[in-house]
Amino acid sequence: MQPVENLRWWQRGVVYQIYPRSFKDTTGNGVGDLQGVIEKLDYLHDLGIDAIWLSPFYPSPMADFGYDVADYCDVDPLFGDLATFDRLVAEAHSRGLKIIIDWVPNHTSDQHPWFIESRSSRDNPKRDWYIWRDTPNNWGSFFGGPAWTYDAQTGQYYLHQFCKEQPELNWRNPEVKAAMLDTLRFWMKRGVDGFRMDVIGLLIKDKDLRDNPPNPNAPPNLPENDLFSRLLQVYNMYQDENHAVMREIRQVLDEYDDRCAIGELWGPLSEWVRYYGEHGDELHLPFNFRLMDGMTWNAQQMRAVVDSLEAALPDFAWPNYVLGNHDRTRLATRFGGEAQARVAAMLLLTLRGTPTIYYGEEIGMEDVPIPPDKIQDPQGINLGPERTRDVCRTPMQWDAGPNAGFSPAGVETWLPIAADYVTRNVAALSADPHSILTLYKRLLRLRRATPALYGGSYRPLDVEPDNVYVYLRKADAQRYLIALNFATEPRTLAIPGETGGRILLSTHLDREEAVSLDALSLRANEGVIIAL
Ligand code: GLC
Repeated sequence: MQPVENLRWWQRGVVYQIYPRSFKDTTGNGVGDLQGVIEKLDYLHDLGIDAIWLSPFYPSPMADFGYDVADYCDVDPLFGDLATFDRLVAEAHSRGLKIIIDWVPNHTSDQHPWFIESRSSRDNPKRDWYIWRDTPNNWGSFFGGPAWTYDAQTGQYYLHQFCKEQPELNWRNPEVKAAMLDTLRFWMKRGVDGFRMDVIGLLIKDKDLRDNPPNPNAPPNLPENDLFSRLLQVYNMYQDENHAVMREIRQVLDEYDDRCAIGELWGPLSEWVRYYGEHGDELHLPFNFRLMDGMTWNAQQMRAVVDSLEAALPDFAWPNYVLGNHDRTRLATRFGGEAQARVAAMLLLTLRGTPTIYYGEEIGMEDVPIPPDKIQDPQGINLGPERTRDVCRTPMQWDAGPNAGFSPAGVETWLPIAADYVTRNVAALSADPHSILTLYKRLLRLRRATPALYGGSYRPLDVEPDNVYVYLRKADAQRYLIALNFATEPRTLAIPGETGGRILLSTHLDREEAVSLDALSLRANEGVIIAL
């Protein structure tokens, strides 16, 4: 265990993800912008988070809403310019907030000057910056269809595992690597505190680009064009050679003080954990989606995932948890509704490790149904409306006014606004002492003030009734018990070895009292934090 006083900001802190298109529109074009983020910094500061992760704001044709980058060192005019970005960093830092930006190293936009050059002729010096072949292999794109597109001009195919507008860089080429590492330096010099690295497990592909084997467990009834799910992802990602690249990336971050490397990674625990590096010399935080992906709302299942993660982590590795992001169904929708979302908030903010909150979770936002003709996301367009990620990317709900205070009145927002915005919005919930937003603020304040919660050890406790998750957090003499009832009925539990304590916070926000721990009563969907 690391002593709490030695923890870095990205260990003690809480990350808040902003999808800039959907946070706050200050220009009246229906799309959020960086000035909008600046205007909401006081809100974020008051909420009690420590770091902001901004999804991409780079110049982009927006084929994948910014994950198709046409220039790694600039800001799309839709979002502002470099001067706006610099102001955002300065204003955030003056409030003690860190700035983490998205870095998309696996692929560029097909409009990036590098690709325009690369595709211009087979002997262009940048030809080898991308992955060109005479004949494609069998890989499929995440977004449907083959992962290769034929380019008639030079008679070869290029690789893209997302949209065809997202050609993949050849990270085996040292010039590509050098150019991309320089983009990290560019932003660190501008004051950026860390990076969230997009699909970082994909950078190096099999040297021979071998065919992937068929997936024997492919779900039935896949859309016909879902070639991706029909194959096992063996040769297109998580190659051993990728780790050397991770170390080089980390070395560049280490040229600067106290920067943080977060990476988007999935995969089996044994592969995932390797991304911390054998000696802690790769990523600081490989994003951990294990409480999000494939999980149902069940206490035993959640505990099993946390315990297996804790057991798999080497001493130097710091855990982290994610319950929602711009690619997944909203947590309130996934887990059942606001009652579950409140317990999930307490779980996320009291486990050992860095939590990431997705914008809108603090007001309990749910998936917003998108009429088929309004679907924007290429995944939804190609693989069918039920696969669209637009549902979790809708405008933030600030108040009960027109367009939920996101865009000025009369503007058509880029995605529709949730029907319940008149009641579910920041202004209304801030004024309500029992709202989910108030719960988030209380949790964040308590966490920040409590070394046992932000830095202490974790120990699960075995308790009798099912569907309850109980654990201890401890730092020096400070001991806190978290008891979460996942069930929709009340539960009474006896906490082994404990007699009494004091409830500091309940997810219902109506209970602060001394309690006996030989018969602790929890209401349906209630979580409590108890000082022992
Ligand atoms: C990551 C992003 C996702 C994007 C994809 C391609 O998974 O989170 O939004 O579509 O990479 O860049």
